[in-house]
Amino acid sequence: MIFPVHLSYEFYRRNIMKKIVVFTGAGMSAESGISTFRDSGGLWDQYRIEDVATPEGWRKNPELVLEFYNQRRRQLLEVTPNEGHAGLAELEANFDVEIVTQNVDNLHERAGSSHVLHLHGELMKVRSTGSGAEVFDVESSHPDVKLGDKCPKGYQLRPHIVWFGEAVPEFEHAANLVSNADMLVIIGTSMQVYPAAGLVNYVKHGTPVWLIDPNVVSNLPAGVRLIAKGASEGVAELKTLLMKR
Ligand code: APR
Repeated sequence: MIFPVHLSYEFYRRNIMKKIVVFTGAGMSAESGISTFRDSGGLWDQYRIEDVATPEGWRKNPELVLEFYNQRRRQLLEVTPNEGHAGLAELEANFDVEIVTQNVDNLHERAGSSHVLHLHGELMKVRSTGSGAEVFDVESSHPDVKLGDKCPKGYQLRPHIVWFGEAVPEFEHAANLVSNADMLVIIGTSMQVYPAAGLVNYVKHGTPVWLIDPNVVSNLPAGVRLIAKGASEGVAELKTLLMKR
């Protein structure tokens, strides 16, 4: 991409490139080998949400919760981004791309996307259960977090995940990105979990909204343009359509 020397890339990105917000869910990472939640055989067929993804579950059995996320973290270290993740990173050559993801994996970042907002937290981070709630990176060489692992101030560490029933601190930031988008692309989410699923209501009137998902998805506004394919094929098709314009 060539741009006039007196314009910085950041100025060009923010003021001249078209803004695409990509809102992703578990289906984005399915082709990397990470289970979705609500498809048949998905994670919520195997575990009870109340046990592993709520503050009550944590209070009742923190060891079980830590082990659930330890397993997710170990699995994440064994998988790689798919062509869909890579295709979205490549879009940055021509568009100002902001990824808003419900996924707690780091596959968008590992594929090269520069602007990734995690609505539901991050698997490779933990935070203190003390009042400061300081956040720490998990070393990939030591991915397991155990009961008794504490922050420097002496508080137990917990997964840096937004559990059901907890506030979604990044929601306002995400809504602001969506309301400034020239196009919204939704990929691989069943749109069942709020407030995240409500982000689509923040698009400006007339903004094109695309959906990439091989299955039927409800809770979508009228006029959504559908690419009924998996993430890798779907992103490739979207790129071709965008480049033709
Ligand atoms: N490519 C694209 N989409 C796919 C693929 C694929 N290869 N395979 C499945 N999907 C779609 C499914 O059709 C479904 O619409 O991915 C979606 C997965 O939906 P969910 O399992 O409900 O995942 P998600 O919407 O991300 O869940 C939202 O719920 O459990 C919580 O916090 C968790 O962030 C998660 C939130």
